[in-house]
Amino acid sequence: MYVVVHILSILFYLLGESLSEPSNKKFPENFQFGVATAAYQIEGGWADDGKGVNIWDQLAHTHPEKIANNASGDVACDSYHRYMEDVEMLTNLGVNFYRLSLSWSRILPTGYTNQINEAGVEYYKNLFSALKENGIEPFVTLYHWDLPEPLQEIGGWPNPLLADIFADYARTVFSLFGDDVKNWMTFNEPKQTCLAGYGVGTLAPSISSSGIGDYQCAHTLIKAHAKAYHIYDEEFRPTQNGRVSIVVDTTWYEPASDSDEDKEAAERKIQFNYGWYANPIYHPDGNYPQVMIDRVADRSQKEGFPKSRLPEFSAEEIDYIKGTFDFLALNTYTTELAKWTNDYEIGTPSYDADVSVSTYQDTSYNSSAAGWRVIPWGMRRVLNWIDQAYDHPEIVITENGYADDGRLTDENRIIYYAEYLTNVLEAIFEDGVNVTGYAAWSLMDNFEWTSGYTVKFGLYQVDFDNPNRTRTIKSSAIYYKNVIANKCLVNTCEE
Ligand SMILES: *[C@@H]1O[C@H](CO)[C@@H](O)[C@H](O)[C@H]1NC(C)=O
Ligand SMILES: *[C@@H]1O[C@H](CO)[C@@H](O)[C@H](O)[C@H]1NC(C)=O
Ligand SMILES: *[C@@H]1O[C@H](CO)[C@@H](O)[C@H](O)[C@H]1NC(C)=O
Ligand SMILES: *[C@@H]1O[C@H](CO)[C@@H](O)[C@H](O)[C@H]1NC(C)=O
Repeated sequence: MYVVVHILSILFYLLGESLSEPSNKKFPENFQFGVATAAYQIEGGWADDGKGVNIWDQLAHTHPEKIANNASGDVACDSYHRYMEDVEMLTNLGVNFYRLSLSWSRILPTGYTNQINEAGVEYYKNLFSALKENGIEPFVTLYHWDLPEPLQEIGGWPNPLLADIFADYARTVFSLFGDDVKNWMTFNEPKQTCLAGYGVGTLAPSISSSGIGDYQCAHTLIKAHAKAYHIYDEEFRPTQNGRVSIVVDTTWYEPASDSDEDKEAAERKIQFNYGWYANPIYHPDGNYPQVMIDRVADRSQKEGFPKSRLPEFSAEEIDYIKGTFDFLALNTYTTELAKWTNDYEIGTPSYDADVSVSTYQDTSYNSSAAGWRVIPWGMRRVLNWIDQAYDHPEIVITENGYADDGRLTDENRIIYYAEYLTNVLEAIFEDGVNVTGYAAWSLMDNFEWTSGYTVKFGLYQVDFDNPNRTRTIKSSAIYYKNVIANKCLVNTCEE
């Protein structure tokens, strides 16, 4: 208890003039707290017991120069062998749920369902049973960026066949794990999969096809999600009674000024960034945002394409896709300013040119080690925007967090959580937004994609130089544990 009080007094001391005090309201009684991780970022065991190769194994092994310090997830936090230590940390934190992802190629080494890897299945069964023994609910993502390599060899997500192949994988895991798992998420941050993976090429599989490959990828992926949802709905929900969603991420885009142009630019940017995936699924009318349909069609025509580079959903597909969620899952970290600008010149097609909005960071705010500004009020605004745009859905925040250098006394992370969660409370109590859960990214320091091990988001530190991958508790974990236990951000909350 002394440690907690000490940390909170450091916190208040640091708050100074620039920040408001954390809210002293209590979270609603049924509010759920968790932490999040992803398979490739923590598991390691990349070739153990029959696991197949995925696109991140492939990128790290064939293009090490694309990852900071030539790092890979070959061992990562070694959770494949040390998951019981993870469960101990989760239990110590007292979380209500643990959001993790399945490694597709650990379960299906080739990506197809004709060959199931029993050792991979057993790994997840053991993990789920350890969570159950400790009263921790698993929230499971089917796809957190790690496509089996054989499926990339047939073109990856831009290939429409992937929708059915993913649906088969989904049916297999619902059937294997559905007795233990009641909260499913099909995809994590599809925008990163498509825009970074097949558009600008910064993430695996590192393909550059902006304005074409990214749209084709998204089109397949949204259909894949809908198929998985309907499979659950028809074949599993009657006996398993769980829920299915998709995690879509967004930055909040604040208009750079009060001008109508900048307001229009900010709205257009969030529609292209978030509405691209959210609208077809979460909006009562479905389909891509109209601004996106119109702008890509117009620019495609001027560029000399016979039809829009943005694929079209048929009326039947729009109906099949819309409403395929049981709650809305959101990842959000930061805020940027959006400024109106002249449309980019017609020339080489690109997603950025289709959007034609200039975005930048407000440098008066602190930056995290990931380069993202700490702007807590952006959380409240993005929650309100979503609440209004998608007809007051139930929202679970599936990721939010702060990156630093991995220090154990991590006051800035405590401030981040206290301030962002204050804005969640304000959204709930002052604005009536229906937020029912929150997951901190991340349980522990891990492999941060192309940043390798240079950027640390963990509540626990991991010693990546030690073969034991020793985990050590940070100050922020003690703070978060206290928040969960008391459903309160400060020492005492009003009842
Ligand atoms: C990283 O990998 C590249 C390409 O294989 C190699 O040329 C370079 O020497 C490696 N750098 C380090 C620090 O190992
Ligand atoms: C939030 O969503 C849940 C699930 O749909 C519902 O039961 C609850 O009434 C909603 N609460 C509010 C305040 O809208
Ligand atoms: C900004 O960074 C400084 C230096 O680390 C720190 O003292 C201050 O509390 C930080 N503020 C926020 C909002 O994180
Ligand atoms: C790793 O853990 C084992 C078992 O606890 C211990 O014997 C060994 O000394 C540890 N190794 C290192 C490098 O800390």
